[in-house]
Amino acid sequence: MTVSCRKVRVLFVTIMMLNIFFCILVGISWKLRKRGHHKIRIPFKRFWCQRVLSKSFWNKEQQRLDFIHNPIFSSWLSGNSDIELPDWLNDSRTLDPCEPNYRVTTQIVDYNSLPERFQHFLLHMRCRTYPMLINQPNVCEDKPFLLLAVKSLIPHFDRRQAIRETWGRAGVLANRTVATVFLLGNTMSVDHFPDLLGMLAHEAVLHRDVLQWDYRDSFYNLTLKEVLFLEWFSKHCPQAQYVLKGDDDVFVNTLRIIDFLEGLSEVAAKDLFIGDVISNAGPHRDPKLKYFIPESVFVGQYPPYAGGGGYLYSGELALRLCNVSHQVALYPIDDVYTGMCLKKLGLTPEKHTGFRTFDIEEKYRYSPCIYRSLMLVHSRTPQDILKIWPWIVHPELDCQ
Ligand SMILES: *[C@@H]1O[C@H](CO)[C@@H](O)[C@H](O)[C@H]1NC(C)=O
Ligand SMILES: *[C@@H]1O[C@H](CO)[C@@H](O)[C@H](O)[C@H]1NC(C)=O
Ligand SMILES: *[C@@H]1O[C@H](CO)[C@@H](O)[C@H](O)[C@H]1NC(C)=O
Ligand SMILES: *[C@@H]1O[C@H](CO)[C@@H](O)[C@H](O)[C@H]1NC(C)=O
Repeated sequence: MTVSCRKVRVLFVTIMMLNIFFCILVGISWKLRKRGHHKIRIPFKRFWCQRVLSKSFWNKEQQRLDFIHNPIFSSWLSGNSDIELPDWLNDSRTLDPCEPNYRVTTQIVDYNSLPERFQHFLLHMRCRTYPMLINQPNVCEDKPFLLLAVKSLIPHFDRRQAIRETWGRAGVLANRTVATVFLLGNTMSVDHFPDLLGMLAHEAVLHRDVLQWDYRDSFYNLTLKEVLFLEWFSKHCPQAQYVLKGDDDVFVNTLRIIDFLEGLSEVAAKDLFIGDVISNAGPHRDPKLKYFIPESVFVGQYPPYAGGGGYLYSGELALRLCNVSHQVALYPIDDVYTGMCLKKLGLTPEKHTGFRTFDIEEKYRYSPCIYRSLMLVHSRTPQDILKIWPWIVHPELDCQ
């Protein structure tokens, strides 16, 4: 009885094994046959000649950068010196990326009819290095827990002062070190600005929180401000744990932000990027709008991005953003650009209801307790900021 039982078991297992073996065999031969039907074609033309090139200028620039930074192609290229690159890829003719790139005037079909600010952007799109006029190399020597980086314009003296006296006061807050820098370009006489450099120099000496680069501070150059800041951060402040980047007309509840950051797990902290996130957006095609982008410049959807009024991210992520920004062509809208860099890193910014870049309901604008739970509100005047800050820091205010 037991012997025949074992025999049956052995037979059963053998049949099972054979079954599996045949299954695999049939599977493989079927796959091979299928392949035989759609023969792999070896392209007789070089593969890039067959690529569908975008007609839009930014997309084309990005395809070029993707190609250059693709490790397989670039190592293969360096081993094949006899290969001639097509014109759109071969850049040896533009030696200095900071000379105006006049080729765009012919590469973009409607260049001459574009608004002037676009023409300026496109001519200088490749240039990412501008000299620093004012630096604060020691501003992070106390290893700040939180670095506040505020985008400002030279004439906004009062906004910067209001921030220094309130949410942006550098020093220790809630037992954490906070450092503050203001990010400035240059105001040009072509934009009819009076000469404020003397006053700015005085301010920089007095407060030691001004960073200034020598480029024209305009709306489309805000992306430049972003990449220059990231470069500065990698060099002078890589030890900061978190960064809040915001405009000079926002109110920030620094206490709430520190409280939030202290509660983060190590994993959540590493890839942290939160703000007022906009998803499923794309370029506006109405030339009258501030965010207008012509089709000859960009086609496609925008990745999710945090509105530029303010967002919060980890210092470690700032270093990765700095790295990856070299692989993303500058885009005229800075917050979209940051979204593009995040996407390249495989990250998505996260929406946090504490960020109100489109303001809060009118009836709550002056309710002190509302501000306790918010992280950032846009927009507030210097007087508003001075009025709101005491609501945050005074413990006698009873908010339930
Ligand atoms: C790029 O173009 C220049 C000038 O047309 C040419 O001399 C050079 O060989 C090209 N380089 C490559 C890698 O195709
Ligand atoms: C303040 O922070 C330091 C280090 O960050 C810590 O050692 C200390 O216990 C904290 N003090 C209070 C009162 O939380
Ligand atoms: C950005 O700044 C550079 C350097 O000052 C300038 O040449 C360029 O025209 C500016 N771009 C825009 C769009 O203002
Ligand atoms: C930045 O890139 C360099 C070189 O590709 C790499 O060695 C470094 O680890 C990168 N840093 C970060 C923070 O990703």
